[in-house]
Formats: sequence, C-alpha cells, structure tokens
Amino acid sequence: MSESGIENLLQEDRLFPPLADFVATANTTQDHFDEAAEDYEAYWMRQARERLSWFKEPTVALNDENAPFYKWFEDGELNVSYNCLDRHLDAGGDKVAYHWIGEPGDKRTITYNDLATEVNKFANGLKSLGVERGDTVAIYMGMVPELPIAMLACARIGAAHSVIFGGFSADAIVDRVEDAGSKLLITCDGAWRRGTIVPLKESCDEAMSRTELIENCVVVRRTEQDVSMQDGRDVWWHDLIADQADTCAPEHMNAEDLLYLLYTSGTTAKPKGIMHTTGGYLTGVATTHSQVFDLKPGSDVYWCAADVGWVTGHSYIVYGPLTNHATSVMYEGTPDFPDKDRLWSIIAEYGVTILYTAPTAIRAFMKWGVEYPERHDLSSLRLLGTVGEPINPEAWMWYHENIGGGRCPIVDTWWQTETGGIMISPIPGVTATKPGSATKPIPGIFAEVVDTEGDPVPLGGGGFLTITKPWPSMLRSIYGDDDRYVSTYWSRYPGRYFPGDGAKFDENGYIWVLGRVDDVMNVSGHRISTMEVESALVSHPSVAEAAVVGATDDLTGQAIAAFVTLRGDAQGSDELHEELRQHVADKIGAIAKPKSIIFTPDLPKTRSGKIMRRLLRDISDHRALGDVTTLANADVVQAIADQQTEYDDD
Ligand code: WTA
Repeated sequence: MSESGIENLLQEDRLFPPLADFVATANTTQDHFDEAAEDYEAYWMRQARERLSWFKEPTVALNDENAPFYKWFEDGELNVSYNCLDRHLDAGGDKVAYHWIGEPGDKRTITYNDLATEVNKFANGLKSLGVERGDTVAIYMGMVPELPIAMLACARIGAAHSVIFGGFSADAIVDRVEDAGSKLLITCDGAWRRGTIVPLKESCDEAMSRTELIENCVVVRRTEQDVSMQDGRDVWWHDLIADQADTCAPEHMNAEDLLYLLYTSGTTAKPKGIMHTTGGYLTGVATTHSQVFDLKPGSDVYWCAADVGWVTGHSYIVYGPLTNHATSVMYEGTPDFPDKDRLWSIIAEYGVTILYTAPTAIRAFMKWGVEYPERHDLSSLRLLGTVGEPINPEAWMWYHENIGGGRCPIVDTWWQTETGGIMISPIPGVTATKPGSATKPIPGIFAEVVDTEGDPVPLGGGGFLTITKPWPSMLRSIYGDDDRYVSTYWSRYPGRYFPGDGAKFDENGYIWVLGRVDDVMNVSGHRISTMEVESALVSHPSVAEAAVVGATDDLTGQAIAAFVTLRGDAQGSDELHEELRQHVADKIGAIAKPKSIIFTPDLPKTRSGKIMRRLLRDISDHRALGDVTTLANADVVQAIADQQTEYDDD
C-alpha cells in the first residue's frame, strides 16, 4: 500500500450520531442524497430554480460538450445582487442583514433595506466613475460593511470584483490589478487590527505608483488618520455617493458571466485568478449554506468568523447568507482584542446560534485556555463549523466540549477557493460525525479516494481525493490561463477533478482529508501524512499545536521533524521530548515517531492561518529560508531556525 497511496495510521473510534432535534427539524434529509444520486443534474436544476430568482429560468443544467470547461444553467439570466437584496425587501426589508461590530467597540445594525439603499447608491457611484458591465474592479479593504456593499454593487452593474485580502502588501495589489486589468481600486484609509491601524490607503498609494492601470481609487473613511488623496484620481466614498439616486436597475446577467476573480496565493508560483460565474456559484453557495448549517432564516443568528478577503467570506459571509435572507454577525478585528474572550462576548451579546471558524483559531483558543469561553454564556449556540485545514481530533473535541457545551453538532467542511462552496461535510440530522473527519460528500457532489493509478482505494485505504462529477459552483478556469486550469486540476486523473489533497477512506466509507499532497512524508518507503502525526502530538495534554515535516535523512529518505507549541504553562524539557516521541509511537506506531522535536512559542502561518510546512522543511534541511513575505508572523521563522541550530549542537 505504501507504493500506491498513503498509510492509514490514526485510529479514531468516537462517533457522534445525529441529534434527535436535528433529525426532527433539519433542512436536509436522506431524500436529498437519494434524489441527487438518481439524477444529479436534475437535482441541481431544482436547487437553482427553487433557491434563486431568475429573470429567465434556465432550461439546461449542465453543458459538458467542452469538458473540462463545463457550463451550468447556461441559458438562464439573473442578477446576484437582486437575489441577495431586492427579492427580500417586500416581506423582509426590516430584517437585520448584518450586526456589524467594529474592533474599537462601535456597532452598526444594517437591515436588508439599508443594505439595498447603500448598494444602489454605490452602484450608481461606480457608473459615474465609468465602470461598465464586464470590467473587473479591485477591492482592498478591511472588514467593514462597505466591503460587501462594494461587492454587491459590482454584481448589480455586471462588473466582476477581485477582492485582495487586506493583510497583503502593495506587491499583491500590483500583481492582481495587472493580471485582472482593473482600472478602479476601492479601499479604506485604514483598518483596525489589534488596536492599531493597518494603513490600507498607503499600500494602495505604493501600488498605484507602480502600476499605471488604476484610474480612480475610492476610499472609505474608517480609521480617520491623515491620508494623501490625489486630485482627480482619489475620491472619498461618502463624497461619491452623496448625490447618487438610491435606485439602480440590476443588469440581467447570463448565468455563465463572470461574478468574481479570487486569487489563490500559491506558495511558490504566480497566483492563480480563480474564476467564478453567476448562476452556478450562487446555486452552490445558497444550497450549501442552507443544508450544511441547517440555517433557519427566521431564528438563527449566524456568524462566519472568517475574513471576506478569503473565499470563505465571499461564499459564507456575503453571497450564501444574503441569498438565504439570513441575519449575520460581522466582526472587524482580531479575536484577542481587547482580550482573548472577544468572540465569546460577541456570541453572548447577540445570541449567536451558528459559529463557523477555522482549526487554526480553535487551536489558538485551546492554547489560551477555557477561562475565556467560561466567562460568557454560550448557550445560544446550536451548531458549530470548521473550515480551512484538517482539524485534529483533540481540537474537535475541545471545540465540541468547551464552545458547543457538548450539545452542538460540528460540521467539518472540506472545500477550496476553486470549488466555490462546501463539498464534503456532515449534514446535521443525517450524518454521524467522527472527530477529524469531514465525513462524506454532500448531496449532488461525488468524490472518490484513489491510488496513483486512479483506482479507488478499498475501505481502510489511503490515497488522493478526486471529485468525479462537475458541480455548479466549480471554478470555470484560471483567468487568462486555460492551459494551467487543465493541467493543474484535470490532467492527473483524466475525467476527474484533482484538488491536490491526500485523504484516507476509512472502514465506514468516511473521508479524512489529510491536507496537501505536498505535505506527505516518505519514511523508509511509507507515505505518512503530516496531519496524522500532528494529531497524535496534539492529543497529548501538554500540546496545543504541532507541525511536522519530512527532513532529508540519509538512512530513511525522510525523517520526521516535529515543531510543537505547548498549552498554557507547560514547559519544553528533555523528558517531555521523550514523552512526546513515545506518545506518537503509542498512538500510531513506531514508524511515525518523530526523530526530532523542537518546542516553539508559535508556528509559521500564512495570513489565512495555514501552517507553512515548506519553511519548516527548509529549516530542518538547513537550507536558506524561502520567501517569508506571505507569512502572518515572519519573525517566528528566524527564531525557530536559531532553535534548530541549538538543538543540532546539543
Ligand atoms: C484545506 C478554504 C481538511 C485543503 C475554503 C484544501 C481542509 C485547502 C478543509 C483549500 C477541511 C480546507 N479538512 N482540509 N475541512 N478545508 N482544507 O482555497 O487542503 O483557502 O485544499 O479554501 O484547505 O484552501 P482554500
């Protein structure tokens, strides 16, 4: 098996059957799975028609004539902002769309009526600056309500948006503006982050000094420090909308027109402009948001604590929730400002019922300790979600017990920027969950774990995740690079989509996504996933977070090098070092015992919270450190490298 796939080492026997009240009331039942298995195109067509309002209803679900350039609902016409706003107004305009909380403590309550007014005005403002249907507008903002307003205004007039995460540098703006050919840039003076100002306009100024493309820059006043405004080019948001009419007719868009580009920041190669279109994307995010979170628009207060700058925010802060007429919380700042209980205090204040966050955040909460959630009443929560990385079973259990009070189902949702929406996840009321497993594909999605030859692995095996049928919210291509689209996703296993993730397929047919295939180590010919060894380490009571990599080893090909962050007051020592190595051997076998363990206060992470194992490999192999500019915490890398040198000398 080590030749063909990935070893299956970690055993997890805990099983959480669906809870009776979810079984009784959940939005989605086994019937949806059966219907989709019978005829998935018809199933998706029904979702598209029932969940969305079309100016012209589609008659064809899938066109696969030019695969892998699939088209969905290609003769349908709709407008995304109309679906998110206008159609809710008659009966539900007063409903809150966003409870927005600024990091310094200021608040805004934004109803669907308010949102519609602001979107219409800003859409007219965009037109007055010459933005036309088919243009691509660059957006580089903090987590303020004007960010979804700007996105929806673009959608209203048929311009695509390209949101650039506000934590990126001027370089990222220049690359993305030039790749997309954007002429307009929307930003803020600054953003609040852990009590300090991130000078967004300054980064835009630097970017605009290096590209000629931007003709106008619209600036939201948020942090109120002085910023330079260039006459004729830069305009304040409030001045732009001051005299605009509050109605702007929504463009009738074809289902396959571009809705947005979102660049995935590859760790080495040029960022890919992932293309999402209108009808299929909206069908996918509306369906999954309702099914996976079991959203009850009448009573739920839903909070996706991601940043709108990532796909999670696009799909599950903006487009899914608004299409479904949900009430959401949107928070501007970091979870530890002014103290490490910020999220829990917001949940208690607004009676949040559904919380969706990332494993990296959950592991930080674990490290901080239970005293913070214990300060607040979290009894309003009824469902929890996670996304972005494999969640270690112990982090899952911690979330379940300390945040969910043992009573909330957890949906561990696997998907990607490229997939547009959730693909593999428990469905509350149907799926029994296992800590650490995303479980099974949702209705209408079909996945298989295969070996290097592309043959499905047997139950209990490990290999590569593939998606076997197209789906509505899939990426349509990489902007300007169709060849790269085909070679990256559709060539390794012809006829299948290859996401680049390793996975195992357990005895019950559950899928355990193990992370990127590049994160698989080869120890004496055994292919071992970093995630399994990390989970074994994190299951030790002293460990908060762990990253392991394969370091070059003369004897075994690769040897496992571990980097460990401890919980609370635990201290690294020679005894703990040995204890942890033995703990991994006990949990998953001697083959996976780390050769070295380095204790560190932090691990290198990308700005979306994913551990950068590539840099840890460089450190273990004593190579010059690769590019660290995309890191959230660049200083930690040198500190770990110094420790490695000390460790090796000992
Ligand atoms: C990883 C985020 C395991 C995976 C929506 C994927 C996960 C990449 C999970 C996409 C999960 C995301 N379990 N791994 N529940 N969710 N991943 O594009 O490696 O930022 O390919 O999209 O994150 O990251 P992206």
